[in-house]
Order: sequence, then structure tokens, then C-alpha cells
Amino acid sequence: METKIIKAYDEAGLKYAASMLREGKTVIFPTETVYGLGADASNGSAIKDIFTAKGRPQDNPLIVHIPFPDDIEKYAHTESSIFFKRIAKEFMPGPITVILPKKEIISSEATAGLDSVGMRCPSHETAHRLLLYAKVPVAAPSANISGRPSPTEFAHVFEDMNGKVPFIIDGGKVDIGLESTVVSLLGEKVRILRPGGVTPEMLISVCGEENVITDEGVFGKLKEGQKPLSPGMKYRHYAPAAKITAVKGSDGSVRAFFKEKLDLGCAVLCWNEDKAFLPQNPKVLSMGSEEDFEAQASLLFEKLRAFDETNVKEIYARCPSREGLGLAVYNRLLRACAFEVIELDK
Ligand code: TXA
Ligand code: MG
Repeated sequence: METKIIKAYDEAGLKYAASMLREGKTVIFPTETVYGLGADASNGSAIKDIFTAKGRPQDNPLIVHIPFPDDIEKYAHTESSIFFKRIAKEFMPGPITVILPKKEIISSEATAGLDSVGMRCPSHETAHRLLLYAKVPVAAPSANISGRPSPTEFAHVFEDMNGKVPFIIDGGKVDIGLESTVVSLLGEKVRILRPGGVTPEMLISVCGEENVITDEGVFGKLKEGQKPLSPGMKYRHYAPAAKITAVKGSDGSVRAFFKEKLDLGCAVLCWNEDKAFLPQNPKVLSMGSEEDFEAQASLLFEKLRAFDETNVKEIYARCPSREGLGLAVYNRLLRACAFEVIELDK
């Protein structure tokens, strides 16, 4: 298939891509979190093309994107949660997805047969304009081949998807670099299934500490036989080709450990602060400063992809903080590690 590249500033091109969405075609577009691979959520056969292009497991539901928060009630039962209005008012448009009971119009292909749907209103200007022109709800997972890190810039999208989709909108580099926060509003409380740009602390400030739960799947592996609340949680996402393990400990012990592993030919994903203490080596990549969670969010997937370009077999990585946006970085990195952590100093 020939893939047409449209620049984000090309208004006529955006309108054309929007009309193609209405015609049942797939379009990749930038958002503030990561690039998405979109199709009309009410058109089951268009949705199937998303699963084919990504090689995505059939039981993993998609997120549906709309231009304005007020549109959500057309597609989902917003009145079923007392927290919906508050969350929408504070955090939309922005990097959050709410799971609500779905309405008929959303195809069961988009929700992988579930009777709930994830709804998101992106704040990215290009995404907003595309959705506005499309006039259909747009289901869009991250635009990577299933199992690879989500794409945070056009080059990643091109690498994974050129020839597999008819249209890609090139919006350069995204802002946040990690996927949206996913919260389930199906129960009495607000349950965080995937941490992202809207942090637990932010949700607590709006909904109250007693009403916000972070699902245990965010911190660790599901136990044998445990059913995930979000089907995506059971897959080893964001996995680089090499085996990756997180390392916890004092600066001194972690740096000594990294040096040993570098001598053995392994690679290291460290903080900026570590670099002065490690040998100059192309196998040393930094994901930002230890306290700079925004930089880490924006760099993590890029660095994981960069390791894929090399032939390293093992990577050792600093273990991120669980505070604020750090929790989203922690969750993605630990999932890439299949939750394997080495604790030094124990
Ligand atoms: O930032 C984002 O959310 C990006 C951009 C493109 O908007 N999209 C994205 O989609 O990350 P995807 O498909 O890669 O991740 C969606 C996650 C999956 O883990 C899926 O299992 C979960 O949301 N999900 C979607 N609908 C759900 C539902 N009805 N119930 C539970 N989990 C759901
Ligand atoms: Mg994804």
C-alpha cells in the first residue's frame, strides 16, 4: 500500500484526511501524548484495518477520540459516574481517557466486545482539527507495531507503519511522550488503570483521596489467573528487542553495577547525573535528569527504540520515581522490564 504523508500545517490535507476517515480509511495523527492510528469508531470494518496494521491482539480495546468533552455523552453514559463532570472540567482536553458504559453507536470491534468504552479528548491542535473535520468518533491506539514502544515522533511512525496505512499526518515530535492516563469510572471510585500525564495527585485534588485508587497492575505483574481490568495490562508492551532490567540502589552501587555490566558488553539507561561517573560508551543512554519527570516521559520511548537499533542483548536501567508524572515513566519502564527489578544494597 502506498502511504501518503500530510504535513500538520497543510489545512487542505487535514480536511482530506478527515474525509478519508469518514470513508472508512485509517489515518495516523499526532496527539499530545503519542501518535495514534485512527479509524471511524462506528465502522467495524474500518476498525479491523487498525488491528491488522498494528498486529494487535483482537481482545485489546481501543480508545475513542472526540474534539470536545461535551461530545462524550453521544457515545457513552456519562451520567453513570459522579466523577465524570469534575474530571472532564479539570482535565479535558488533555492526556486522560475515561472508561464509561458505551452507547450502541460505538462498534463492538472498537471495544473488543466490551460494553464499556475509553473516551479521550486530545489537546493537540492537529488532532483537534482532524477530529473536528472528521465529524465521526475516531478510535485510535498508539501508532506502533504491537509490542514496540509507542511512537513519539514522525520518524518512529514511519519506521513502523510506512506501507501499512494510507495516510500519516506528520506533526513532528509530540509533547508528553507517554500515553494518556486511563481511568475507569465504571465503579464507585476513580480507578487508575494506566498512569499518564494526569497524575494520581491531580486526580486526588479533584476527586478526593478516598475516591482515587491506583490499580495494583500499575505497580506489578498480575498474579497467575488474575483477570486484568484493562486488557492491555496483560501484554508485555513497550518491549525493546533486548532483555531489560531495572536497578535500584544508592548512586554509588548503581554506578558500580552499571560499569561492571558495560564491561560485559551490556547497555545502560541512566540519569544525566550518572554520565560523568560512567565511561564514554555508545551503549550508555540517558533518559534525562533524575528529578525531571517531564524529560524522562519525553525520552523513554525514544531511548528504548534507539537500543533496538543496536545489537545489545541486555540493558540495565535506573528505576524511576513513583511520584507525580514519574509514576507513568516507572510503569512503562517496568512493563518493558516485565517488572524485573534488581535491588542492590539489600
Ligand atoms: O494517549 C493515548 O491514550 C494514545 C493516543 C493515541 O490517544 N492511545 C493509546 O491507545 O495509548 P492504546 O490502544 O495503545 O492503549 C489503550 C489502553 C489499552 O491498555 C486498553 O486495554 C485500554 O486502554 N482500554 C481501552 N478501552 C478500554 C476499556 N473499555 N476497558 C478497559 N481498558 C480499556
Ligand atoms: Mg499502545
